[in-house]
Amino acid sequence: MEGIAIMTSGGDAAGMNPAVKCAVEYALSQGYQPYLVYNGLRGLIEDHIEKATSNAVSSIVNRGGTVLRSTRSKRFFEYEHRQKAYENLEKHGIKKLVVIGGDGSFRALNQFYTDFKVPFAGIPATIDNDIPGTDYCLGVDTALNMIRQSVDSIRDTANSFNRAFVVETMGRDCGYLAMASAVTSGAEICMVPELEYNLDSIGERLRLQIKEGRNFLIGIVAEGTGMSDYLTRWIGDNLKMDARLTILGHIQRGGSPTVRDRLMAFKFATAAVDSLQRGETCNIMVYRSGSFGTLPIQKVADTRCVVDPALIDMCRPLCK
Ligand code: F6P
Repeated sequence: MEGIAIMTSGGDAAGMNPAVKCAVEYALSQGYQPYLVYNGLRGLIEDHIEKATSNAVSSIVNRGGTVLRSTRSKRFFEYEHRQKAYENLEKHGIKKLVVIGGDGSFRALNQFYTDFKVPFAGIPATIDNDIPGTDYCLGVDTALNMIRQSVDSIRDTANSFNRAFVVETMGRDCGYLAMASAVTSGAEICMVPELEYNLDSIGERLRLQIKEGRNFLIGIVAEGTGMSDYLTRWIGDNLKMDARLTILGHIQRGGSPTVRDRLMAFKFATAAVDSLQRGETCNIMVYRSGSFGTLPIQKVADTRCVVDPALIDMCRPLCK
């Protein structure tokens, strides 16, 4: 039986576990011997590799994070460590890889393919939703629901205590989480790297609303703007409203995967095994305009990630 290894790499995201479960079960049904790589790229180098069984992946579908654990390994960028990883795969008879992670991990595996010709299929997973070529990455829906729940709770206390709250969401360079959350949580202000903001007109708009009776405010800020502290102080100074900052942080990465994340994980995982079975070597599974497909890693690497323009338009009024 040909060996196919399944691993998670980079920042963990909800939906990774359902993807692991489905990849193992589907690979078994297609006549492969699946293996599990623990600790991401480090696990490839240090041979944290075990034969997978259906039992090993039962009861993981509802768990957040990744039971395979994950790392960001700098060592994998050195040839001698990739050579070690290759020897480990050879030892187990592993000829193909399914990697669930972000574009950094895909690029690392692409370099590995260039060196040793081990084909891989990539499944996009990051709460940032910033992998070019796909509208959806695993973990995003769960993170959005986590943010929604938090902002709903914050709204209760803000409204009760006549306060403004600035809520900082994750998203290293991408404002997707902040924009989708601002729109769906009814925020008054949104700051993201994709949109310019104008504090003068924001001030004018909100002072008018306060005059008309508004007693609380919610501002959603993407971490990538570095503006959370500043906006909190600005609200206190300029709108004369008691203001507090809540940084949601890593809470957004955890939690049981939503139904959407589980379904997307199953579809991506099946597509990944199918892609390897067709003999494709370095493809990323993508979901675009409502359909599933694949893109060569080179296309993904050469493309810039663009947030849905309709979502950006919905956010514009919150920036001025
Ligand atoms: O890429 C996912 C992400 O959660 C980003 O939103 C965030 O900037 C970063 O990872 C945090 O990284 P770390 O977990 O290493 O602190």
